[in-house]
Amino acid sequence: MTTLSTSPGTAAMTRTPFDTRTDALFDQLRRDGLWKHLQMLDSPMDASVRMRREDGSFRDVLCFCSNNYLGLANHPEVIDAGIEGLKKYGAGTASVRFICGTFTPHETLEHAIAQYMGTEASYTFVSAWTANEAVFPTLCEPGDMIISDELNHACIIDSIRLATTIKKGVHKSVYRNNTLEGEKSLRAALQAARANKDVTGQIWVVTDGVFSMEGSIADLPAMRAMCDEYNAMLVVDDSHGHGVMGTLGRGTHEHWGMIDGGARSGRVDLFTGTLGKALGGGAGGFVAGSRRAIDLIIQRGRPTLFSNALPVTVACSATKAIEVLRREPQRVQRLRDNVQYARTKLKAAGFDVLPSPTAICPIIVHDTAKAIAMSKRLLELGVFVIGFGYPVVPEGHARLRCQISAAHTMGHIDALVDALKRI
Ligand SMILES: Cc1ncc(COP(=O)(O)O)c(C=O)c1O
Repeated sequence: MTTLSTSPGTAAMTRTPFDTRTDALFDQLRRDGLWKHLQMLDSPMDASVRMRREDGSFRDVLCFCSNNYLGLANHPEVIDAGIEGLKKYGAGTASVRFICGTFTPHETLEHAIAQYMGTEASYTFVSAWTANEAVFPTLCEPGDMIISDELNHACIIDSIRLATTIKKGVHKSVYRNNTLEGEKSLRAALQAARANKDVTGQIWVVTDGVFSMEGSIADLPAMRAMCDEYNAMLVVDDSHGHGVMGTLGRGTHEHWGMIDGGARSGRVDLFTGTLGKALGGGAGGFVAGSRRAIDLIIQRGRPTLFSNALPVTVACSATKAIEVLRREPQRVQRLRDNVQYARTKLKAAGFDVLPSPTAICPIIVHDTAKAIAMSKRLLELGVFVIGFGYPVVPEGHARLRCQISAAHTMGHIDALVDALKRI
């Protein structure tokens, strides 16, 4: 019988450069108190969740860090729709969409998304990350310029990096975030693009609708007006705005009255969004916009052509979540009331929270290790809030990000504020 030479001595000798540098990074993260610990949950996502302790036992904690903004992740109809989808269509499509992976629930969901967003068409992906990654590499051509907010989500940044890498001659620039300064900065970027003789094609301006770490919102009417001046197309990732912003929860464009000829009427050319937050909390993402843009993504998008479809069961749950949202707009109002209550209580307790209608209430603590330590202490008090630091936010801008849901009661919010006061 032959034996494989797998002695510990041999393993030590074959240590790779990857092993060495990765272990050094991990040591550093542990020393600096920056190691991320994955909390294990054993219940549905809701206002409170069942979390595993270090000794293996479980306890209930209040959850203020999920994106379950409307409390639909554990809604009986959303669950039942998924179960029915699973029974009828099986585990998955076993195919990309253009081969044999397009099922009637995809069509139903995409129709529901387009109607809800007020666009001609939409197309779904396994995540909003993938949806964003499909946008710029597919829609841009050499001579185009993409102008991006400095605080845009990582997947927008990567989509732009991909577009400029695989299509030489696609240009990019970054403008300052969405303050008065930001408006000046965007205008300057648009002027520079028009003055650049290499920019011969389309100018794109891209922003988050709701900035995921700040909880602030993009000034879409001002951006639309500037885009019109420069014949630029406006792209909005509203992953934290869909289901949250506007009376009917249709998103940041509804908040600004930019739907169906509203008071400050105007268009957003293309939306990206997620089905993994307010809209059922499952998974999945979408692009919504003109039929032309969606058809181009279907014909030419690499994530479209080379990656499996959204599982049908998830499509069924997400369609039901949108149906419940449209039937029960009072959920959006309840979320708004909770957000207002939380911000007022946090401010009264001396915390510096941005005045914003969004469900994201960041408390800036600057230091990453401090944010993680505070989050740990909160958990001991039975409140689950994550501390974010570098590389999720810039160095020195670490924060506790409290996220409010329609599933919370005022009592839950009081408990959050009390725990924060205690630490
Ligand atoms: C603004 C924004 N876009 C995209 C995503 C990615 O969403 P998904 O989890 O569906 O990939 C997120 C998630 O954090 C987000 O906040």
